[in-house]
Amino acid sequence: MKDALIHLPDGYSIRLMLERDYAEVAAICAAVYPTETPYTRDELAAHHRVFPEGQFIVMHDASGAVAGTHFTLILRMLDFHLDDSWDVLTAHGTFTDHDPLGHTLYGADLMVHPAHQHHGIGRALTVAIRGLVSEKGLWRATGGSRMPGYHLVAGEITPDEYIAKVQRAELTDPVLTAHLHDGWHAVTAIEGYLPNDAESAGWAAVIQWINPACPPPEGFEIGRVPRRTKQ
Ligand SMILES: CC(C)(COP(=O)(O)OP(=O)(O)OC[C@H]1O[C@@H](n2cnc3c(N)ncnc32)[C@H](O)[C@@H]1OP(=O)(O)O)[C@@H](O)C(=O)NCCC(=O)NCCS
Repeated sequence: MKDALIHLPDGYSIRLMLERDYAEVAAICAAVYPTETPYTRDELAAHHRVFPEGQFIVMHDASGAVAGTHFTLILRMLDFHLDDSWDVLTAHGTFTDHDPLGHTLYGADLMVHPAHQHHGIGRALTVAIRGLVSEKGLWRATGGSRMPGYHLVAGEITPDEYIAKVQRAELTDPVLTAHLHDGWHAVTAIEGYLPNDAESAGWAAVIQWINPACPPPEGFEIGRVPRRTKQ
């Protein structure tokens, strides 16, 4: 977590999630994902039980409030499809599919409380999970980025064209732009990642960050990971 400290603004600190954070985490979830069911205590306890070192919290020191979270688990991605949903990749939000022998750290959720956004907290939490990738000698981190600006142009351009325009900075997306600025590479658009995400018109961008210090697992090519749906 030491690299994350460089990016944290003054007045914030970073640590691993504790039981006392659960209620505040659920409240942040309700605030940033109004159409989703917030995490339950049981789900957060399960995340903590299966992979405590992958559950990061940023605190606002003065108020003692939780300002942001990044939740991760390790997956063997060849067990999955490129376009599997969040529900499938997280074993219905429980993280019980965490596989310590996998090569990929999956960033299941990154959220910053609206009152603390645009302070660099998302960046610090992203750097924190990359530190974990390096510590564990994993090949890469991956995630599914929401693209909540897509519904504004969904009738005009395809999801992949939208991603390309955001990559070229011809369009700005409130989430995908943040991920790209934070050094993620967008691989492709997938449908149904978060089926209730109407702002993203049901689409998401698969994003990944390759650990330059770790060679890819033998025989693995992202292009060979099958899709659940035909393109
Ligand atoms: C996406 C999110 C995590 C970003 O967190 P944040 O703490 O506000 O982001 P940061 O302040 O660390 O900004 C990181 C970079 O993204 C950029 N960025 C952040 N929000 C942005 C926005 N709305 N539009 C464009 N760029 C944005 C910042 O400018 C910064 O890049 P820069 O340093 O090159 O200028 C936050 O907006 C959030 O929690 N959103 C709701 C939940 C969500 O959708 N999470 C993503 C799930 S895939």
